[in-house]
Amino acid sequence: MIHQTRTKVKDVLAENKEGQEILVWGWIRSSRFSKALGFIQINDGSSFESLQLVIDLNKMVVNKSELLTGSCIKVSGKVVESQGGNQDWELQTSRIEVVGVADNTYPLQKKRHRFEFLREIPHLRTKSNTFLAVFKVRNRLSKAIHDFFQEKGFLYVHAPILTVNDCEGGGEAFQATNLNLDEINGTVDYSNDFFKQKVFLTVSGQLEAEPFALSHGEVYTFGPTFRADPSDTPRHAAEFWMIEPEMAFYDFEDLRLLIQEFIKSITLTIKEECQAELAFLKKFVEPELDARFDAILDHDFTSITFEEAVDILNKSGKKFENKAVWGEDLGIEHERYLVDEHFGKPIFITDYPENFKSFYMRLNDDKKSVACLDLLVPGIGEIITGSQREERYDMLQSRLQSKGLEVELYQWYLETRRWGSAPHSGFGLGLERILMYLTGMKNIKDVIPFPRAGRKLY
Ligand code: 4AD
Ligand code: MG
Repeated sequence: MIHQTRTKVKDVLAENKEGQEILVWGWIRSSRFSKALGFIQINDGSSFESLQLVIDLNKMVVNKSELLTGSCIKVSGKVVESQGGNQDWELQTSRIEVVGVADNTYPLQKKRHRFEFLREIPHLRTKSNTFLAVFKVRNRLSKAIHDFFQEKGFLYVHAPILTVNDCEGGGEAFQATNLNLDEINGTVDYSNDFFKQKVFLTVSGQLEAEPFALSHGEVYTFGPTFRADPSDTPRHAAEFWMIEPEMAFYDFEDLRLLIQEFIKSITLTIKEECQAELAFLKKFVEPELDARFDAILDHDFTSITFEEAVDILNKSGKKFENKAVWGEDLGIEHERYLVDEHFGKPIFITDYPENFKSFYMRLNDDKKSVACLDLLVPGIGEIITGSQREERYDMLQSRLQSKGLEVELYQWYLETRRWGSAPHSGFGLGLERILMYLTGMKNIKDVIPFPRAGRKLY
């Protein structure tokens, strides 16, 4: 038995175990030796902080050549009050056994490495301090998201990954097939394919969440989504996680209030419960991290309409590559100006022109805009898109047609409006986008365990 007999580093650091003899397993993060003493930082993943081992070299013989950064060791000793200022407790070591040596070819030596280099070794970068911090925050954030919705009584729906619908109509869906593509010449005969029709990996769980909202009331999905997005930017991944709440009997105003409450709530949880990780990230990744938290926690989110946004941009005196106009989507240069320079805090932009927004967004009374919003945050841009859904059967049908979508494939979706339709709203939050904001990480590839982004997997 190993697990039953070991003590976790987290428990040594957090509880008073003074005088207790314990056994710890973990990996060496750093070691240094003087003539009489050795100091080793050991981490077992249970906490971001490491435990200091103190070795009296007059009493113990150790093989220093194996006690190198990255080596796995098994250590016995007595918990004592720490003499140094960094932690309360340390281990007076009585026995060290080397379990798995990491020699000096180990790529993650003590110096700081560039993230580009670490991306080439995703199977090893998990051991670095930055990734220990980022993935602890990702884990805590995921729990905070579930807690928020569970405490409000939302139903967690597992939306399918395989689908026939391109929810966003962006033509960015990956096709899924069991045909051997190498054997296909010319036109594809789908009657030979597994589903006998064209099938894709989902770009969004929304369409399947809606029938659940229209029966269970308040629901959410939280799962992977896939997009062959041509924009290979630091904010785009081909495989990313989305949280998509969908609520019956919520109008646009209810939606906006829920989003604000949700984002503030999960931000506060991270601030309060990931203090060691945030202190590290602030020191080494994003010095302005506190300001990012304040920008969310200290204010109500400002809300402007698309029309007002265009007006601000045109009066800014700033030269943009493309002029902002009604009827064309804002570019990243516009979003950046609004959120980073003009407002300097999170903003909602609402009521976008109907022509380039998704078919399911509810048409406003002006007949030219839809009841939708984007939430933009400084340094990142868009993290959320949401809308009140078009609940009127005829309107929905005509929007599907005018957008050139194959109405037949959306017949099932239309039927949700045929019997007992109801006003409802929902939104999608990109998990990695908010994680980038809360950790200060600049590239989406560095907040995903094994990123599927860009053009090469490994
Ligand atoms: O704005 P999007 O495309 O909206 C939807 O998919 C709706 N169905 C959501 C809904 O109403 N239920 O995507 C939602 C969010 C974006 O705001 C962004 O945060 C994230 O998903 N996102 C991406 N994140 C990483 N890489 C990509 N390629 C992303 N595309 C969208
Ligand atoms: Mg969007």
